Amino acid sequence: MSEKQTFYITTPIYYPSDKLHIGHSYTTVAADAMARFKRMTGYDVMFLTGTDEHGQKIEKIAQENNVSPKQYVDHIVAGIKELWKLMDISYDDFIRTTDRRHEEVVQKIFKKLYDQGDIYKSEYEGWYCTPCESFWTQHQLKEGNCPDCGRQVELVREESYFFRLSKYQDRLIKHIEEHPEFIQPQSRQNEMLNNFLRPGLEDLCVSRTSFKWGIPVTFDKDHVIYVWIDALSNYISALGYLTDNPEKFHRYWPADVHLVGKEIVRFHTIIWPIMLMALGEPLPKQVFGHGWLILEGGKMSKSKGNVVDPAVLVKRYGLDALRYFLLREVPFGSDGVFSNESLISRINSDLANDLGNLLSRTVAMIEKYFDGIIPPCSEETELDSELKQLALETPGRVEKLMDELLFSNALQEIWKLVSRSNKYIDETTPWLLAKSESDGPRLGTVLYNLAESLRFISVLISPFMTRTPPRIQEQLGISSSGDTTWESLKEFGRLKAGSRVKRGEVIFPRLDPEKELEALEALRQEKLQEETVRAAADKAEKEDSDSRQAPDILPEITIDDFAKVDLRVARVVKAERVEKADKLLKLTLDVGGKSRQVVSGIAQHYSPEELEGMSVILVANLKPVKLRGILSEGMILAASDERGKLVLVTASEEIESGSQVR
Ligand code: ME8
Ligand code: MG
Repeated sequence: MSEKQTFYITTPIYYPSDKLHIGHSYTTVAADAMARFKRMTGYDVMFLTGTDEHGQKIEKIAQENNVSPKQYVDHIVAGIKELWKLMDISYDDFIRTTDRRHEEVVQKIFKKLYDQGDIYKSEYEGWYCTPCESFWTQHQLKEGNCPDCGRQVELVREESYFFRLSKYQDRLIKHIEEHPEFIQPQSRQNEMLNNFLRPGLEDLCVSRTSFKWGIPVTFDKDHVIYVWIDALSNYISALGYLTDNPEKFHRYWPADVHLVGKEIVRFHTIIWPIMLMALGEPLPKQVFGHGWLILEGGKMSKSKGNVVDPAVLVKRYGLDALRYFLLREVPFGSDGVFSNESLISRINSDLANDLGNLLSRTVAMIEKYFDGIIPPCSEETELDSELKQLALETPGRVEKLMDELLFSNALQEIWKLVSRSNKYIDETTPWLLAKSESDGPRLGTVLYNLAESLRFISVLISPFMTRTPPRIQEQLGISSSGDTTWESLKEFGRLKAGSRVKRGEVIFPRLDPEKELEALEALRQEKLQEETVRAAADKAEKEDSDSRQAPDILPEITIDDFAKVDLRVARVVKAERVEKADKLLKLTLDVGGKSRQVVSGIAQHYSPEELEGMSVILVANLKPVKLRGILSEGMILAASDERGKLVLVTASEEIESGSQVR
């Protein structure tokens, strides 16, 4: 028996500093589609993803949140794993740079490079951008600020270890020239050669002493290993490199492809291969630098407030709609714009119209004309063999495109078969065949071919979409797992005649674009508000802790929680003291022409006279209670401080009573 060929694919390891957004999902979904495709086509696949958890930035955020860095990252990483679960990411391993198994390997790598003279100690002076965790030389700065993010940088000088990149530069240039497939797409290769390698590499600072949240250098405890040696090593630490269990390393290394965003191509095609050369290990076969998913206003980032939350879209449209969109809309190498309009229009045209209709029409006709039993296929016309031919050719075309990571083109090929099948319905006009007795066998053939074509489609889309294939197969009544393998696409005609179709739910309901756009915009606004409220609360909390004691801010609520509180402007019509209760006043309020009675504990702060005519704020939907036997229908708002001062919250200007307060 021949050994299965292996296929090792990785995503970058993500920083757990931000909530992951749709841009991160984009890389991960692409890697997942590729991994699924390779598994289906017979490979022994290793698909790795993970998180990049060290560094000063995390240390700072954790400190601001009053938790340890480890507690902080644990929390975020749990959320990341949730997201990957939601998106059906079929990773084989999840590496965290805080895993002991990773840290040990990094320490060994560092020591080895030091012992052989590729890492040496010196002094570093440069400009440091904390948010980007990047060092810059004076001439790299843009108007004195970080050239990447434009924020302030600080001058740092410290003792550091350096990695001798320069020593390997010529070997790397040669490797790139001899292996045109190493850096893809081609344009990124030219950029690396011309902008970085040929002008000459400077040695790289690989340790820091100014923070602690990193992997310590074993032989110099003041130093932690800084960023790239730590992060890049994940691709081999996960395989057990330099451990007692190096089987996976022997099995899967070198990687077939590292998928990375274009801004980190440089690290993956210069620092990483040089590290491997210095370690005497083979280089990955390919680094593929994909483009960014951008929104109007630029690359998605939390600081710009333009992130799109994949979980929201999955909840609204289903996972497969989102996966399809991500892989279909943007050619993998280039930047692509994400817009709600394009998402909705893809769902409607490709999924609801083309694929969804093909399935529902086919199943409905088999039910109508053959009582739900798939009819046998008899003689073959030119139309039939054309459809059959296309179905049989499509897997090969998809394979070729997938091997070049051309996800969008691969899906286009599959959709040619979808369109061809829909056209086949129009050409064969089953509803006319159904009218004549003698055309029964012909009608059967047509419907059989449609069902079989749908079987092909359901298998072909399986690397890209995870939920839809079983739903299609269930409706087609496919029960044999042998009919859902990639291998089964070698034969058109496997589908069993005589089995029963089962009409199910519409797989992709058609969306009303206007309504959806409005709904998505409303969700976005809601989220922005949520974030504003949260930011304000954070700020208040911080101010509290360094000023006088005010009560702690209560646990966070959502805008929905807040929306449950109905606040109204109310005019005080009358105020009276309550007998034997020196704190209480009984107020008669006018709320938009209706009268309300509220008992309020403000008697020591306000006299009845000064209250009359005031416009106060009423919690109008608070459950009524009796205070000292008097009914109180709501509560009016007042602010109080620690010294016992109390002031009523009032409308700052004349406004109709009954007006909503939001
Ligand atoms: O860079 N569109 O982590 P990261 C497409 N820890 N891709 C996007 C994107 C967008 N809008 N936003 C981010 C790091 N990405 C390092 C990697 S690897 C040894 C260390 C992609 O969380 C980005 O291009 O900042 C990158 O490939 C990946 O998400 C991780 O970004
Ligand atoms: Mg980044």
